[in-house]
Amino acid sequence: SFNIKKICCIGAGYVGGPTMSVVAQQCPHIQITIVDVNVERIAAWNDENLDNLPVYEPGLTQIVAEARGRNLFFSTDVDKAVDEADMIFISVNTPTKNYGKGKGMAADLKYIELCARQIASVAKTDKIIVEKSTLPVRTAAALKSILDHTGNGVNFHILSNPEFLAEGTAIQDLLAPDRVLIGGENQEAIDTLVKIYQNWVPDTNILTTNLWSSELSKLTANAFLAQRVSSINSISELCEKTGANVDEVSKAIGMDTRIGSKFLKASVGFGGSCFQKDILNLVYIARSYGLNEVADYWDQVIIMNDHQKQRFADNIIQTLYNTVSGKKITFLGWAFKKDTNDTRESAAIYVADYLLSEQAEITIYDPKVTAERIYADLDYLNTRSPEENRALVKVVNDPIQACQDAHAIAVLTEWDEFKNYDWYTIKHQMKRPAFIFDGRKLLNRKYLEDLGFKYYAIGE
Ligand code: NAD
Ligand code: UDX
Repeated sequence: SFNIKKICCIGAGYVGGPTMSVVAQQCPHIQITIVDVNVERIAAWNDENLDNLPVYEPGLTQIVAEARGRNLFFSTDVDKAVDEADMIFISVNTPTKNYGKGKGMAADLKYIELCARQIASVAKTDKIIVEKSTLPVRTAAALKSILDHTGNGVNFHILSNPEFLAEGTAIQDLLAPDRVLIGGENQEAIDTLVKIYQNWVPDTNILTTNLWSSELSKLTANAFLAQRVSSINSISELCEKTGANVDEVSKAIGMDTRIGSKFLKASVGFGGSCFQKDILNLVYIARSYGLNEVADYWDQVIIMNDHQKQRFADNIIQTLYNTVSGKKITFLGWAFKKDTNDTRESAAIYVADYLLSEQAEITIYDPKVTAERIYADLDYLNTRSPEENRALVKVVNDPIQACQDAHAIAVLTEWDEFKNYDWYTIKHQMKRPAFIFDGRKLLNRKYLEDLGFKYYAIGE
């Protein structure tokens, strides 16, 4: 295999930051530089106060504290890090395209292509290029074409190494991955990356495939996971009509080892930067090959998810006597899941948007999400002006105060701390009847009903 002394990672986001921090911690003999064009992000990664890291993940600060300055560096000097590296991970964002052909469906590959062009123009020595970003199947062919036409006589080997970490559990997922997937054409390049992971991942968990299988497996894994959530959410609606309880159904079917118990938690709908984007991309790819049945099949996962968010908001409106105009509704949670400060595609954003269109007044408390982020999420929808969003939405730092005088509380994220609040005090400071809409099935129905709450949960 090739000798790797220096690695560069382009993109210091939710994937590049934690992933390469763990590689640095596990491989003290390799120097790792994570670069980004976002100056504030790099400054935050370099902040002496580890509470200011741009990504919140349990366990991340300890890892950064150990490796940063030793063999882990964060920098905005992309050219220098690329020039010096023997191996380059590309971990930039690949959002859904919001313009032109494939708008709203295809992955926007402009950031990936910019990386390839920058590498091509800077590189003076042979390099292994690793696709860490989630990419449409056959992207490696495009990368290779750009890299091979540099005229510098430099050799590039391209590998696909998709990342399967979930936010909130990123560090434990990275330290003990179910599998590491490496796709490539050149055996020596594949062996080189395998050797790096062998520093902490058992051989049996390192899987090698051809390039296209690796690229396609990432989209497929996310589509399957999201499909499970939509499947159980579809059943949650049927439960509400029939007297079945969706948690009981989940448990009953999950004990079948062929089905498995994970990812069967009914909710207000899945969020996060990956599921919707990756399924839309899969649907787009299928259609581009003329595979309409395949495309329609996966499209339904998204349709179901949109329906679930809409349905949750509709139920609040209906239950509050068909009007929420001028009523205070408190959101507990804004992040798309617990233990992360990430809000991308969070169900909370869409539920808030529906309720705001009905002139509700929303107060939001989330333990890790800033007010700036929340307003930015709402402004991005363009449903109403930034001024209107700020007039209708309050963000507060104290959950008990958040609930004061509210007509209803909606639980949007499953943060553990919500379970232990002083629900007695909350109840007595709310309007009556005091409603709770639990989009995460987090709280205890019996306890809350005994306190006098009107409690509604998904799928019951
Ligand atoms: P992110 O937006 O948090 O981070 C991407 C970073 O890349 C940004 O900081 C951006 O400034 C930087 N960047 C973009 N173009 C650049 C360039 N030309 N040069 C230098 N820096 C550049 O995104 P993310 O959540 O880390 O996701 C990155 C990729 O990983 C995506 O393809 C995503 O689908 C995939 N992925 C994400 C997750 C997840 O849980 N977030 C999990 C697995 C895979
Ligand atoms: C996902 C994949 O799990 C991960 O492997 C991939 O690398 C990136 O995308 P992530 O989006 O970070 O990870 O979190 P995940 O735990 O998958 O949750 C996604 C969404 O589904 C969240 O909004 C979560 O609340 C929701 N969800 C998940 C449910 O509603 N029910 C479940 O049973 C599981």
